[in-house]
Amino acid sequence: MSVSARPEILGLKVYVAGKPIDELKRELGLTEVIKLASNENPLGPSPRAVQAIVEAASTVNLYPLQDHYYLRQKLSQRWNTDMEGIVAGSGLDEMIEFVGTAFIGPGDEAIVPDPSFSSYDHAVEKMAGHLIKVPLKDFTVDVRAMLAAVTPKTKLVFVCNPNNPTGTTISATEVDYLLDHLPPGVVTVLDEAYAEFVDRADYPQSINYVKAGRPVIVQRTFSKVYGLAGLRVGYVITTPQIAGYLQRVRGPFNVSSVAQAAAVAALDDEEHVRQTVANNRAGKEYLYREFERLGLPYVPTQTNFLIVDVKGPSTPVYQALLRQGVIVRQGTFFGLPTMLRVSIGTMEENRRFIQALEKVLPGNAS
Ligand SMILES: Cc1ncc(COP(=O)(O)O)c(C=O)c1O
Repeated sequence: MSVSARPEILGLKVYVAGKPIDELKRELGLTEVIKLASNENPLGPSPRAVQAIVEAASTVNLYPLQDHYYLRQKLSQRWNTDMEGIVAGSGLDEMIEFVGTAFIGPGDEAIVPDPSFSSYDHAVEKMAGHLIKVPLKDFTVDVRAMLAAVTPKTKLVFVCNPNNPTGTTISATEVDYLLDHLPPGVVTVLDEAYAEFVDRADYPQSINYVKAGRPVIVQRTFSKVYGLAGLRVGYVITTPQIAGYLQRVRGPFNVSSVAQAAAVAALDDEEHVRQTVANNRAGKEYLYREFERLGLPYVPTQTNFLIVDVKGPSTPVYQALLRQGVIVRQGTFFGLPTMLRVSIGTMEENRRFIQALEKVLPGNAS
């Protein structure tokens, strides 16, 4: 018997993730496959986190701490802020859903950069809200254009900083300008999933907006620099009032005990973070040099991925790379049809990617 769901569900798109390594191996009978498609940590998880996972495994008969006490305590020490303003989720994806659930009702508006991270769209549309998509300027979030898009119905403004998929950032001055000019009552989400990779000095210290009582939600994740994407842990730092709303929409045991323990341990693993950032910097410089040698325009990045222009439709290049055992992202997903988005891997993976790219670029095929 046919059933009907809420009408707004029908328009939602099922998320398309980067192709898993095993899937490509299965499909093409390949043995050597690398994945540079989901901005994961190429050095693996923090070894301290792995140890904590092993130790936590023996207590999985018990439910996890529902209040994420030790994780929030550790984060509050790290950020020198109150535990009350910290809320953890099963990845930032879940936190983004909570934000949509807490703030968007039918007909409410949320302003998002375009292109940007697609989970914002899902969280808003699921609640029957309207997305107001504001094009990037020079591949970068355009604060003034976002302000111009504000209406009395605006509830949320999402700022992806650094922006996925372009890898660009906006400065503290620009975020200040945005917050100073938004009407009271509009909540700004500062998604800083890749903040640890940023090396510009004028990047905002967003915790200070929270400490000043501004209506902002600062988002961080353990999926990127800490290498725990498979465990699903992310968190926000926000005002006690906003945290209270997010706690209400959160399910009781949304972060597993294993994930909580691993995240606490990862926060102490400064060496792993240092190595990850150093590997990323070296990989980025290598890729810049190689793209220049190949005459391919790219957008300089503040993250662990970057977009490169293959100067023609990127889908055939993406598919040819798959046949070489290299998984990246095709720009059509982001409305950038001549671009590929490539995560920065280990040096060996970066070299393999460049070799494969050189082989498959139109005009170079052997
Ligand atoms: C900008 C941005 N925000 C949030 C996320 C979600 O991260 P998580 O793995 O914590 O759900 C991602 C993941 O790729 C991202 O790129």
